[in-house]
Amino acid sequence: MFDPLFSLKGKRTLITGGAGSLGTLIAHSFAERGAIVTVQDLDKARVDAVKDSIVKNRANVFTIAADLSSASECKVVVEEANQLMGGLDIVVNTAGINRRKPISEVTEDDFDAIVSVNMKAIYFISQAAHPIMKAAGGGVIVNMSSLSARYSFNTISVYAATKAAVSSITRSTAREWAKDKIRVNCIEPSVIKTDFTKPLWGEPHRTKWFDETTPIGRLSNPDEIIGSVIFLATDASSYITGQSIVIDGGILSGGDWDSYA
Ligand SMILES: NC(=O)c1ccc[n+]([C@@H]2O[C@H](COP(=O)([O-])OP(=O)(O)OC[C@H]3O[C@@H](n4cnc5c(N)ncnc54)[C@H](O)[C@@H]3O)[C@@H](O)[C@H]2O)c1
Repeated sequence: MFDPLFSLKGKRTLITGGAGSLGTLIAHSFAERGAIVTVQDLDKARVDAVKDSIVKNRANVFTIAADLSSASECKVVVEEANQLMGGLDIVVNTAGINRRKPISEVTEDDFDAIVSVNMKAIYFISQAAHPIMKAAGGGVIVNMSSLSARYSFNTISVYAATKAAVSSITRSTAREWAKDKIRVNCIEPSVIKTDFTKPLWGEPHRTKWFDETTPIGRLSNPDEIIGSVIFLATDASSYITGQSIVIDGGILSGGDWDSYA
């Protein structure tokens, strides 16, 4: 049954990092539901491959190859997406990187690279989208944060700090732009089984740790984040802004104090 509450039909959507595991899935699910989509990522061949892999509504899919590590390039990308689609209703900020190292081995280059994609790009993509959405009477931004915004692991200190910043930027932009009818929310997933996290879930002892620590008893699959992204992007969440949806299989719900019995 068609439910207009969750409708993406005709919604002009920019997906950054759109050739990655989650970005590709978001591009597919939005295009299949009738959205007009611009897939942005670093490499032209990869964004074009995402477009080619979309069967339904491929004519409504555009691509942009660009590096979002500078504020000026973020502005260029948002303006190009706006032109390609004839407007901008939704931005899904998916681009992200990680370099896993103990704190003592993190270099300035590691720090700057992770901050510039994970934190700075979300900030300046959103800043560039604001006047366009405001002039059009509103819009929606969905950011990819992470469970690590609240619950860190060894070797991801800089990544976790940038994801805490993403959740914070989500709240700040939501506050300042609510009056312009722009809603901003984020999702905070635990480890999802994607290529991005293969070094983590590919290690049997870590899979065991997740399976035993997560109340649902397993890691999530990429399909399991899509519902939250669609919910936050559509009128189904029309009174929700500045929030984070934690998708963690119950990890934050508490601990089992009998596990040492
Ligand atoms: N996979 C997980 O378990 C998980 C969990 C929580 C949060 N996340 C977040 O979700 C998002 C997507 O994760 P994923 O698993 O699809 O990762 P992914 O590596 O498959 O996708 C990220 C994409 O961002 C692109 N990108 C990197 N640097 C860029 C730059 N400078 N400019 C433009 N694009 C750039 C990459 O090319 C890549 O295609 C990330 O922000 C990640 O932090 C992922």
